[in-house]
Amino acid sequence: MKNIFLAFSIIFSIVFSSACVDKGANSTTTTGGEGSGDIKVGVYGDTSGATSSFGQSTKNGIQLAFEEINAAGGVNGRKLIMIFEDDQGRPEQAKTVVSKLINQDKVQALLGEVASTNSLAAAPVAQDAKIPMITPSSTNPKVTEVGDYISRVCFIDPFQGSVMARFSANTLKAKTAAIIGDVNSDYSKGLTAVFEQEFTKLGGQVVAKEAYTQTDPDFKGQLTKIRNLKPDVIYIPGYYGQVGIIAKQARELDMNMPLLGGDGWDSPDLWKLGGEALKNAFISNHYSADNPAPEIQNFVKAYQAKFSVAPDSLAALAYDAAKVLADAIRRAGGTDSAKLKDAINATKEFKGVTGSITLDASRNAVKPAVVLELSPAESKFTFKETIYPEGMSAPTNTNTNSSMNMNSMSGGNMNSNSMTGGNMNSNVSSGSNMSMNSNSANSSAMNANMR
Ligand code: PHE
Repeated sequence: MKNIFLAFSIIFSIVFSSACVDKGANSTTTTGGEGSGDIKVGVYGDTSGATSSFGQSTKNGIQLAFEEINAAGGVNGRKLIMIFEDDQGRPEQAKTVVSKLINQDKVQALLGEVASTNSLAAAPVAQDAKIPMITPSSTNPKVTEVGDYISRVCFIDPFQGSVMARFSANTLKAKTAAIIGDVNSDYSKGLTAVFEQEFTKLGGQVVAKEAYTQTDPDFKGQLTKIRNLKPDVIYIPGYYGQVGIIAKQARELDMNMPLLGGDGWDSPDLWKLGGEALKNAFISNHYSADNPAPEIQNFVKAYQAKFSVAPDSLAALAYDAAKVLADAIRRAGGTDSAKLKDAINATKEFKGVTGSITLDASRNAVKPAVVLELSPAESKFTFKETIYPEGMSAPTNTNTNSSMNMNSMSGGNMNSNSMTGGNMNSNVSSGSNMSMNSNSANSSAMNANMR
């Protein structure tokens, strides 16, 4: 009897408290004003499919950020509430859950997705409904081209792809490369195009381009073709689930050349899949958990304490996206969607754990990238160097990276032709503020090349 009473009172309190949340949200939408009460933020990602560690890390990063913000009194006194939807890593599902978050849950902003193809599927829904969406980590240029309600706090692939082409040609002195990419991923296709273009401009030759899909169980057919051509490096712009296995199968075929990739490799699950085969591999990424800067180490410690795992770049970017959103709500004076969109798009020099975040006219963050070397024995990514985009140089009073062991791009002269005739300086920092002129192009010209 006592138990039944207890059960009833629990049910009652759940119904009652969720009714309260709904009431607050409804009054916000019906008044159409700046709003009051809790702020509902829709978050969508993959927590059960082939890229589930992406969604999990993203959710964790946002949870930590919201808890910190709410503990400090919220945004203009209002609490941030995350409403999370699992899209299973499927584009159609991403679109469906974003419609649900907007129409049913009445979220006032969206954070997500990770994989560019999923963000591309859902972004038009957010744009049509005029609900601001910040993707923490989708790097394909087309995502923010969907419209002015769509923005991101990460760099884009024309930059990331050129970073690895330059690393191959200048640091590894590679003359030939093969690429093996995911044909169903906008991310992978974009990086394939940029890498080929940049590597060729630097005098290298792409000797093979092989394709796979995320459901392929085996990659030895493609790898055998590549092996016969003996490329100096293999670029694999894919996601961790396939990359780990590709690395293993390449080593089984006695292919011991450097393997190169991008942010899509970043997952705690990569080590289980690839193991020792991940030696002699390098990726471009958004941040390094090794960075001794106190603001980064504070984040790493708080995250580690809460989730018992080190924060990967997804977690760091999601944390930053959540904080950028909160900052924009504060500056907009509320959640009026047009004002909030304008405030997000005006983000300037926001100090995030992934660097200083400034959105350009195309709503993309202009930020440096890091090159990391894989250390499978310790299951960790080891910092190699930071590469800055056009017009940005290493901070002079840097407290970052200075104690790190780095092989820079060896101080060699990196002057070369630009990608599209634009002229962009790119600086490589190895702790000593060394900088070099390098090739590249402005991002809009590079966007054109991705299409
Ligand atoms: N940049 C990837 C994409 O656009 C997603 C990703 C970001 C994956 C960061 C891992 C780490 O698809």
